[in-house]
Amino acid sequence: MEELSREELARVLDFYKELGIESVYIDDVKDEPMGNLLSRQEKQRALEDLMKDGIGDCRRCRLSETRTNIVFGEGDPDCEIMFIGEGPGADEDMQGRPFVGRAGQVLTSLINKMGFEREEVYIANIVKCRPPDNRNPHSDEAESCLPFLKRQIEVISPKVIMVMGNVALQNLLDPDMRITKVRGKFQDLFGIKVMPTFHPSYLMRNPKDKWLTWEDAVTVLKFLGRDVVHDPGRG
Ligand code: URA
Repeated sequence: MEELSREELARVLDFYKELGIESVYIDDVKDEPMGNLLSRQEKQRALEDLMKDGIGDCRRCRLSETRTNIVFGEGDPDCEIMFIGEGPGADEDMQGRPFVGRAGQVLTSLINKMGFEREEVYIANIVKCRPPDNRNPHSDEAESCLPFLKRQIEVISPKVIMVMGNVALQNLLDPDMRITKVRGKFQDLFGIKVMPTFHPSYLMRNPKDKWLTWEDAVTVLKFLGRDVVHDPGRG
């Protein structure tokens, strides 16, 4: 069969929808993340719908009782690379934005060294509300929030996800995985490459391990076919 571009396929599917056809079975793109079929504007709209209609004023778990703001996530919905952390801290809870505190400075610096601006990637967390006293999210809290993150991943369909720290790794991929064992080695989620790496807060406590995170970043950049411009010897 003749191959259709993303835009052509979207038009065909719109036409089917007008005819009242709600779903179609597409045989040879079974493993293709659905976001690959959407334009940047469609992704943006799908994320806004998820935020307003899906999450709304969420009260699904106890974290909602103590949060100030829901931290949905932010960035380019059509990005190549997504960064996923654990959950908002005090600064993120106040501002309603992910990674804007001290750990955020470490993450932003990594993003910049990789040759991106924050606005060019997408940043999100396992849970969207701050766990009190910065404790790890409980499994029932992560479970009620995860469908929204998975939907974000599905819509964005980045080429790579950098999953930062054990909490993100274990909730997103496998509760038995350890960051110390699998960091630097690509994993798979819905056909998307996932690179486990240290959490920025860990790097603040263990700066001697920053070079390992940089190695993980270089593996990601090579996979994306991007030039490695930063010299890690220069900090
Ligand atoms: N730590 C996280 O895991 N996420 C944030 O958004 C901030 C700090």
